[in-house]
Amino acid sequence: MSAALIPDSKLPSLGTTIFTQMSALAQQHQAINLSQGFPDFDGPDYLQQRLAYHVSQGANQYAPMTGVAPLRQAIAEKTHALYGWRPDAESEVTVTAGATEALFAAIAALVRPGDEVICFDPSYDSYAPAVTLAGGRLKRIALQPPTFRVDWSQFAASLSDRTRLVILNTPHNPSATVWQKADFEQLWQAIAARHIFVLSDEIYEHICFASDGHASVLAHPSLRQRAIAVSSFGKTFHMTGWKVGYCVAPAALSAEVRKVHQYLTFSVNTPAQFAIADMLREQPQHWRELPDFYRAKRDRFINALADSRFEILPCEGTYFLLADYRAISDLDDVSFCRWLTEHVGVAAIPLSVFCAEPFPNTLIRLCFAKQEDTLDAAAERLCRL
Ligand SMILES: Cc1ncc(COP(=O)(O)O)c(C=O)c1O
Repeated sequence: MSAALIPDSKLPSLGTTIFTQMSALAQQHQAINLSQGFPDFDGPDYLQQRLAYHVSQGANQYAPMTGVAPLRQAIAEKTHALYGWRPDAESEVTVTAGATEALFAAIAALVRPGDEVICFDPSYDSYAPAVTLAGGRLKRIALQPPTFRVDWSQFAASLSDRTRLVILNTPHNPSATVWQKADFEQLWQAIAARHIFVLSDEIYEHICFASDGHASVLAHPSLRQRAIAVSSFGKTFHMTGWKVGYCVAPAALSAEVRKVHQYLTFSVNTPAQFAIADMLREQPQHWRELPDFYRAKRDRFINALADSRFEILPCEGTYFLLADYRAISDLDDVSFCRWLTEHVGVAAIPLSVFCAEPFPNTLIRLCFAKQEDTLDAAAERLCRL
């Protein structure tokens, strides 16, 4: 008998993500799951009804490769309303299978073997494997708690002739900080004279608590000519399982992303696209009111934790909070999260898993996209420590 043929892994250091592990542990111990970033409540009734409607009307075959026209137009309108610039729905907007696919397709389209890609740690876990598979080299710039701000002279010094792409994420998962307009201007000043593209992960664009709103790469007239902005409806409509996202980029860049997209997924769930287009057109108040919706949850949770021994870091966007447990335990953050799940009944994510280098810290990420009862019950347990 011949033995099974084992491939040399192209991603040897990757195992099951911590998000999957923590959710499994939470289930095993019946802990309140504040680890994975999804709501424990459903999205709008109207959206669900429109999905059923479009299924019943026969919108069940392949969608156009770039996305259905009403959705691309609605995205263009929304971009104009928010950032004062309207992308061309035909050539500059592409609907993808969640932000994950848009990020992967953008990286695969732009990064060649030996290219350097800059990202800021802590960083979302899908960037690095995509860069590795494209043959690129990831240069990670570590941002320091509690402010997690970019040091622009350090950034400028890290650029080289091989730098091809900068990946950023604002509002930022997991630090809950946001970029300001001035950050985008600094980025522009640093890369203007170089052949460097920008991949801006703005999936939490509608969950931003900053007084002057979300600063998007799309609002910067120069940067947007070399940027791919990525977003997703999963977070906006409380429907992370629908996996419908999109990217906005100049026509020439979009054309390259589409070359990957057409062989990665080809096209995205047809009735869901039509339903989301209806939702954007008929109920724009949903995304307009989202900052208030999540601000109320954030404030409720922070107030409920006021008497705990956790120190809560400022939260300017996303539906995550960072909590410092140094007054409670000497454990490293991964061990602390396991202990918290098993013995306290609350699951969280350790910050170090978002960083490549060992990151000595005592910070955990808590997701507050939960019903009030869930947040109150979790806070009550955390206050006992
Ligand atoms: C920063 C960031 N980017 C991308 C994604 C993936 O989004 P999607 O579920 O739309 O693929 C997530 C999901 O949590 C995220 O937090």
